[in-house]
Amino acid sequence: MNGHNIGIVGATGAVGLKILKVLDERVKDIQNLRLFASERSAGQQLEFRGKRYQVEDTANSDFTGLDVVFFSAGTEVSLKYCPIAVKAGALVIDNTNAHRMNPDVPLVVPEANLHAVKNHKGLIANPNCSTIQMIVALAPIHRVNPIRRIVVSTYQSVSGTGLEAIDILKKQSEAILAGKEPPEGVYPHPIAFNLIPQIDILLESGLYREEDKMVKETCKILESDIKVCPTTVRVPVMFCHSESVNIELSEPMTLAQVKSILAEAEDIVMVDDPARSVYPTPLACQDRDEVFVGRLRVDPTVPSGFNMWIVADNLRRGAATNAVKIYTEMVRNGLF
Ligand code: A2P
Repeated sequence: MNGHNIGIVGATGAVGLKILKVLDERVKDIQNLRLFASERSAGQQLEFRGKRYQVEDTANSDFTGLDVVFFSAGTEVSLKYCPIAVKAGALVIDNTNAHRMNPDVPLVVPEANLHAVKNHKGLIANPNCSTIQMIVALAPIHRVNPIRRIVVSTYQSVSGTGLEAIDILKKQSEAILAGKEPPEGVYPHPIAFNLIPQIDILLESGLYREEDKMVKETCKILESDIKVCPTTVRVPVMFCHSESVNIELSEPMTLAQVKSILAEAEDIVMVDDPARSVYPTPLACQDRDEVFVGRLRVDPTVPSGFNMWIVADNLRRGAATNAVKIYTEMVRNGLF
């Protein structure tokens, strides 16, 4: 491969900056790089492999000549500019919610359904961060013994909301520790020293949209009508999402069998020795690309039920790494 011309829309954001980092680590040959954001940061320079690149205003940009464009600048930006980039001839990998449920757009976790990219029409969607890490852990089990039902509670870090949310967690924590009123911002309640069982807007179903995403995206990726019962919670953690997951399988299986499937699966690390307080924690999983699984145990209250605790870096595994891996796996498999 001689290297492609690569663009990132939202390059100055929390995920955009991680995409730059992951490209540096995983893509040896890059012919040219173009970085886009809003007019606020147009003209700003970002460094990549010792060279400085000027950030362009997405609104005034022409995507002609780009082979691949990663989008991570919010749903509105993707709705407006992804079709323009596709029309200009680029393969677009979109990290937002804009096109995920469009039947013409493959929704891909490379370890689970890379085959879905074969039908792409220029646009491929990257799933939601909490869906990605759950799918990486559950797809290998589902392939052997289809999962019938998933009950999941998430513990999602503020970095998933963006750089502004990282800042508000710091400021609120400092204020509370100093005995002052925490400043308002980003979330409907203070996030410092708190838990907020709301992510995104409320839907008529009674689910918040983050929960609805987990239900619908899981079914689309696994090509199944699997039942998913989620509760998504924002927690005062900077990086990494954690998930308590309960699954019911179609057929009987032993704990040892489930453990051996996970131990052999791609990109999964078992951290599971509860007697020695060994299990994945957000701090320990930061800046890693794998999905970490621990607390694996039988749920004796249902036939063939298991519980587990799944942790991954939401900006890397749950966003940037998944997006870049879609591209690198397509190249590696001759699909791009
Ligand atoms: P900017 O830095 O110019 O605001 P985060 O998820 O960390 O909040 O980052 C959001 C990313 O999306 C940033 O790169 C931000 O650029 C970019 N962005 C936000 N609004 C727009 C817009 N209207 N057009 C292009 N990029 C945008």
